[in-house]
Amino acid sequence: MTEICFSYRPGIPVLEGLSLAIEQGQRLALRGHNGSGKTTLFRIMMGLLLPQSGTIFFMGRPVQDEEGWRKLRSCIGMVFQDPDDQLFCPTLLDDVAFGPLNSGLDKNSAKELSMEVLRSLGIEDLADCPPYTLSGGQKKLGSLATVLSMRPAFLLLDEPSAGLDQDATDRLIGALRNFPGGYLVSSHDGDFIEKVTEESLHMNHRHLIPG
Ligand SMILES: Nc1ncnc2c1ncn2[C@@H]1O[C@H](COP(=O)(O)OP(=O)(O)OP(=O)(O)O)[C@@H](O)[C@H]1O
Ligand SMILES: [Mg+2]
Repeated sequence: MTEICFSYRPGIPVLEGLSLAIEQGQRLALRGHNGSGKTTLFRIMMGLLLPQSGTIFFMGRPVQDEEGWRKLRSCIGMVFQDPDDQLFCPTLLDDVAFGPLNSGLDKNSAKELSMEVLRSLGIEDLADCPPYTLSGGQKKLGSLATVLSMRPAFLLLDEPSAGLDQDATDRLIGALRNFPGGYLVSSHDGDFIEKVTEESLHMNHRHLIPG
């Protein structure tokens, strides 16, 4: 993405001339203080917010229309900061199977794949729970499961470790280490970041700097 400028309100820029290039397998941390624009950046990268200026590129081509965003979203999965934005089905298993079913997998295969993802995160016992009955940490891992079941090539993770206890954090770290692709992950937890990423970017005065 190049020269991205974005503001929610005229005259109050959140991102100003922000450029960023990510390689497929890169594992990057996104750091920055509260309100510095990390979530905004993730939303722009998925086409959920449109910048006032600047261009998003995917596989070397500018993303300009719905078809372009569809292609991008079929390869990039985003885990939202607030899991309530991601869980909306009657049970957690339904939520995890939702994407695979939508992309044409049959019921049994989708269920099998979803259970495998839930097992990999150590939350298979929560499969039949309605999401609103889950704890905050359980919801966080559950929303990660809904994204992993789509087998994306790249992940955008917005504070996935927030509110997780040590055991759940360890399972998240394991899942990220086993993930075959790259990711951009925001977190305020330096220890977690160090364990799962190789490089980091810092949101500084409305654009990104290394470190
Ligand atoms: N929907 C919105 N309408 C207006 N302003 C918004 C909206 N969402 C975010 N903002 C403002 O944009 C700025 C960046 O917010 P953003 O949520 O991207 O920060 P963040 O780096 O993700 O913060 P945190 O670490 O707390 O998650 C903040 O000043 C915030 O108040
Ligand atoms: Mg945020």
